[in-house]
Amino acid sequence: MKKIVVLTSGGDSPGMNAAIRAVVRTGLFHGLEVFGVERGYTGLIEGQIFPMNISSVGGIIQRGGTILKTSRCEKFKTKEGLDMALQKIREFNIDGLVAIGGDGTFRGIREFSALGVKTMGVPATIDNDLSDTDMAIGVDTALNTVMGAIDKIKDTASSHERAFIIEVMGRNSGYLALMGGIAGGVEVILIPEISYNLPEISLKLKEGYQRGKSHCIIVIAEGVGETYEISKFLEDKIGFETRVTILGYLQRGGSPSAFDRLLASRLGAAAVEHLLKGETSKMVGLMGNKIEATDLEVVLSQPKTISQDLYNLALRLAK
Ligand code: F6P
Repeated sequence: MKKIVVLTSGGDSPGMNAAIRAVVRTGLFHGLEVFGVERGYTGLIEGQIFPMNISSVGGIIQRGGTILKTSRCEKFKTKEGLDMALQKIREFNIDGLVAIGGDGTFRGIREFSALGVKTMGVPATIDNDLSDTDMAIGVDTALNTVMGAIDKIKDTASSHERAFIIEVMGRNSGYLALMGGIAGGVEVILIPEISYNLPEISLKLKEGYQRGKSHCIIVIAEGVGETYEISKFLEDKIGFETRVTILGYLQRGGSPSAFDRLLASRLGAAAVEHLLKGETSKMVGLMGNKIEATDLEVVLSQPKTISQDLYNLALRLAK
């Protein structure tokens, strides 16, 4: 293992830069040559590969986003795209690849490993939908963004005695909605993993209104897919005037939290060290307080499940 390359792929997340920094500086520490790839797999196919040094990653640990840029690359899912990328890897005599991203990113490097390239995945997605890691890079920062947004919305909801439906990201995962809703102390949390009964919910909210509550907050994961329909259903049933706020892409930005900077630094370093041990086609992840490497086949075969205990806790606390 003499030359490694690092890239970021898929939806960006706060902390990706801290992970890039850890990969580059750990690789250099072990005497490797380290290269970066611009714009994920798209840049790999186009050969946008450049050498990185200690200074390439100076002053970035606190920055959201990714200095390497990222992309969602359909071409990499084709044999032609894989072959073009493999040709570039061979052209640059690259021995190992570290890919920082989510499940789509890891499906890409799993194919790549089959072609003989040594690969390691670093989990970075605000959705936190990857098994075999308690947390992915960016989740803690996104959670704090969601919680801060809920706190702000509560101010105006109380002033106007309104109900707010707040839609959060997560693609098909309800993790951000569930954990953000618990941290924000909201009244209702709707996630795609667990069914709900709107008439029952509207009765609960109406009781709260009649009890004199000044507002109510409903957090809904985008994967539920019925934000405005739910707002319309509740509008004339719960007493409160209802408004909708879509948090959207602000959940993907911001300076990474201490947790995410530490997680990213540990995972980025571990990815290089596992490559140096000759391992391949694995994802490094946080398990308890340890960093473990798990085969990508295992990671990709089982999506992360939502904790029913945490959902029950949310139901008990949200009154
Ligand atoms: O996977 C991260 C994520 O932010 C999802 O929560 C969201 O549904 C998706 O990316 C949005 O994708 P894009 O950035 O391509 O619009």
